[in-house]
Amino acid sequence: MKRKLKKVGIALFLVLIAIQFYQPALNQNPGQDYTNDFLITTNAPSNISKLIKTSCYDCHSNNTEYLWYDYVQPARMFVESHIKEGKEELNFNEFGSYSNRKQQSKLEAIGKQIKSDEMPLTSYTLLHRDAIINEVQKQELITWINSIKQNSLSEK
Ligand code: HEC
Repeated sequence: MKRKLKKVGIALFLVLIAIQFYQPALNQNPGQDYTNDFLITTNAPSNISKLIKTSCYDCHSNNTEYLWYDYVQPARMFVESHIKEGKEELNFNEFGSYSNRKQQSKLEAIGKQIKSDEMPLTSYTLLHRDAIINEVQKQELITWINSIKQNSLSEK
């Protein structure tokens, strides 16, 4: 029995080593164009810009700031799948290229996700403590989101 457990342990260890070699492409595009970026097109104030960049951009933009453990498997696969799904739903770098209708519905969704504490994901804030949004910041964000919602609605 003991010998069998030892074998299983060794096998698991080897699998753990083997999967380290699987490193999917990084979500990093240094030369990218920022003309459609959400924070730039909306002329976001610096406190708002900093909050959204710190708490949302790692999964909702074309550039993720990875931490050392993000490179360790199986964490790497988990992180990369969140980025892929997050970007599909909402890419802040491309927000300005969305139709007005899509922008409005995304603004609505952003407000809701922040209000209900669904975003940023808990699995993310567990290790990225600086991404946690406190109550005061939450209110600031929601007020600002609402203000740009009205602006763009009255324009069109
Ligand atoms: C760790 C990665 C991660 C972070 C950080 C993150 N998100 Fe997300 N987000 C996702 C994933 C994955 C989805 C898609 C699955 C889901 O809805 O849970 C998503 C979905 C969304 C949606 C839903 C889109 C829709 O149309 O319904 C919105 C809005 C959103 N995120 C906003 C935000 C905002 C705002 C922040 C920062 C305050 C943020 N997210 C931070 C990963 C992340």
